[in-house]
Amino acid sequence: MDSIEKGPSLPSRQADQSISVLILAAGLGTRMKSARAKVLHELGGLPLIRYVCRAAKSLAPQKVYVIVGHQAEEVEKAVTAELADLAAFATQVEQRGTGDAVMAAREQLENSDSVVLVLSGDVPMIREATLQTLLDRHHSSSAACSILSVRLENPTGYGRIVRDEAGQFACIVEQKDASPDEQQIKEINSGIYCFNARKLFTALKRVKPANKQGEYYLTDVPQILLTDGEKIDVYLHSDAREVSGINTRAELAEFENLVRRATIRKLMIESGVTFIDPSHAYISAEAQIGGDTVIYPDVSIEGKTVIGKGCVIRSGARITNSHLADNVLIRDQSIIVDSEIASDAIVGPFAHLRAHVVMEQGSVVGNFVEVKKSRIGRGSKARHLSYLGDATIGENVNIGAGTVTCNFDGKEKHQTIIEDGARVGSDTMLVAPVTVGKDSVTAAGSVVTKDVPADSLVAGVPAVVKRRLKKQMVKGSEK
Ligand code: UD1
Ligand code: CA
Repeated sequence: MDSIEKGPSLPSRQADQSISVLILAAGLGTRMKSARAKVLHELGGLPLIRYVCRAAKSLAPQKVYVIVGHQAEEVEKAVTAELADLAAFATQVEQRGTGDAVMAAREQLENSDSVVLVLSGDVPMIREATLQTLLDRHHSSSAACSILSVRLENPTGYGRIVRDEAGQFACIVEQKDASPDEQQIKEINSGIYCFNARKLFTALKRVKPANKQGEYYLTDVPQILLTDGEKIDVYLHSDAREVSGINTRAELAEFENLVRRATIRKLMIESGVTFIDPSHAYISAEAQIGGDTVIYPDVSIEGKTVIGKGCVIRSGARITNSHLADNVLIRDQSIIVDSEIASDAIVGPFAHLRAHVVMEQGSVVGNFVEVKKSRIGRGSKARHLSYLGDATIGENVNIGAGTVTCNFDGKEKHQTIIEDGARVGSDTMLVAPVTVGKDSVTAAGSVVTKDVPADSLVAGVPAVVKRRLKKQMVKGSEK
């Protein structure tokens, strides 16, 4: 008899029982009503397919074969990001059904006696432990095929597990082919199976597209094996949510909510992060956040962002693939992308660290300041209304309101260097390439077209040296 999950799992498989994983990911997913392949749609900031790859990898398989078709190149990229060399790809040129998809890996697998675990690219919540139990049962039952099933209150859309009078597996019937009686069946096929590789392909060759959808169904294989006298095992799993496939955007949104809640809960409970309103925070599953950091409502933290301890992230901030050290304050409505911020720095409100910005300890980028590919030294401040691009700014520099690095001459980008202790007056235009020397001052409204020597005051359009500053004279007299 098939049985419901019994608690402790059976002993783990032997080392010689090698497994290969096959992930079906060639379909477009018409129910998503999208130009984008379904498995590339994102959940918690990661393509669906990556979750399935992760589950596959955790089983230490020999190889993970991924069947690609729609947007193959992008799907392969997403898979490789997770699996690297463990992945191999087979292309299904025309999407003629799940059976046809598996056929695409025939050459690689049909002459092997290894176990093939089949997964769907659109079932992202599947857990390692569940797959391990399925594999263990498969090995100990000597079935040719083991099917993971669950019971659903609303089984609409899924293939149904049809059993005979004795309760033994008979066949799988797809929703569209099911009789009204069969449609009443609540036990569904999760689309996750183990097969003996050789037997799988022997049966697959005999699958016919004789159904409402005119497709080659992988779900016909178990019945074919059964008529060959093979044993079919059905593992009725208790957690239905874990094996739900994502077929529509409504389902995707439901899962997004679940993943988000789980991520935030973990951060609160395990890392000691405060969320003012956990239901209005958007945190990537890959982000790391340190203890006593406070996240205000409507904050988005994306990608592999790392945030240290004791930071405050105010409302409306978006932080993507960036690294924040401890005690950083991000004020409201700031955007931070691919940047690095040292401890005690302050950003915003309404600041934009566009890409590759390094802010050193205690530096400040304030109201309506845009920064790109620049380094801002220790304790330096650009508090208001500036554009700083391709700039290297030393320590304790003050950038006056309205300062602009004019880094683009229409063809190329040029560098601006502002040395330690310089004070750039309001509304200074720094026409790059240009250097403002140590402890120099530019007067308000200067247009700096030539390098400014250290310890001097420049002013005018174009800016010229008006006088040397005291410090320089002191230094000079020392020489
Ligand atoms: C499938 C099962 C169904 C099961 C359900 C569980 C079949 C015929 N039906 O239905 O019994 O209840 O999964 O989620 O297998 N794919 C390809 N090439 C194709 C067709 C599909 O690679 O030609 C891939 C898709 O990209 C997807 C997976 O196979 O990742 C499942 O395909 P989908 O069309 O979603 O199958 P369901 O109708 O959900
Ligand atoms: Ca599906």
